[in-house]
Amino acid sequence: MYIFLVGIFAALPEAPKVMVNMPSHYVLVTWNKAIHLVMPGLEETICFESCPSAYSLMSDGVAAEQVKKFFFTSRKTQETGPHDESLEIYIPELLQASYSFYTWPSAPVLAWYLWENRKDIVGQKVLELGSGTALPGIVASKCGAHVTLSDSANLPKSLQHIRRSCELNGVTSQVKVIGITWGLFLTNLLKIGPLDLILGSDCFYEPSVFEDIVVTVAFLLERNPHAKFLCTYQERSADWSIEHLLNKWGLTCNHIPLTGLGADAGITLAELMQDHTIHLLDIRKST
Ligand SMILES: C[S@@+](CC[C@H](N)C(=O)[O-])C[C@H]1O[C@@H](n2cnc3c(N)ncnc32)[C@H](O)[C@@H]1O
Repeated sequence: MYIFLVGIFAALPEAPKVMVNMPSHYVLVTWNKAIHLVMPGLEETICFESCPSAYSLMSDGVAAEQVKKFFFTSRKTQETGPHDESLEIYIPELLQASYSFYTWPSAPVLAWYLWENRKDIVGQKVLELGSGTALPGIVASKCGAHVTLSDSANLPKSLQHIRRSCELNGVTSQVKVIGITWGLFLTNLLKIGPLDLILGSDCFYEPSVFEDIVVTVAFLLERNPHAKFLCTYQERSADWSIEHLLNKWGLTCNHIPLTGLGADAGITLAELMQDHTIHLLDIRKST
């Protein structure tokens, strides 16, 4: 097993810069006063929609909110003929310098994987770590999983933002939101009930936190030996690796091939990854 987190690390885009430095394949279209961010070929599948009516000020009066619409679909052939299934998710983003108020490219990839494997997660007990805007966890909830979303206990505004994501998607009553800081064994982590699945999108974004995440996952998998940690990561530096940490903490890892992800809905992998290289790992307790 040889796991590198490869690529060129771009400095953390403060939220306003994210908007300025949009990947070149986004097309900005103005239509009926609404601004649509459209990825070519994805108009019918993933649509990022920035609607002026969705802009608001948070209660502290500082951050403008933008809502992105993610549209998941697939075309199934049934006895009665072709049959479309679809799901719309609304994700709020804030124009603020923080990792957690922006949906990182790894999140739609993990969300699409969950959507395409939704039959497997019905009724599962799922915890998302470092949820940020929480796209994968909310998709899991909409697909019938019992979901707990988390972000750093030191970031109350991030936890509030997760609650806002839940509210926009009508899952507030069925999704728990808690503070879990990687590497800290505090009450919320210690009292989590049984888990089948742990999710993480772009948690391995900065080497200084790698061991904190791995140790937290190792703790949860020790308590839930049948569970797995599904995580997407974005290649950023050729020097980054988590292999030694997985070995140290008794974990094994398999790459899940993403070939064909989105194909059912007419999306290419390149479009889904938005010009980045993103991998999906299945991490479990070593036997
Ligand atoms: C790169 S963002 C990814 C956010 C989201 N999962 C996504 O893919 O869009 C990393 C996330 O990890 C959270 N985070 C950073 N350090 C953390 C820590 N020590 N404990 C828990 N969460 C942390 C951040 O607040 C942020 O939401």
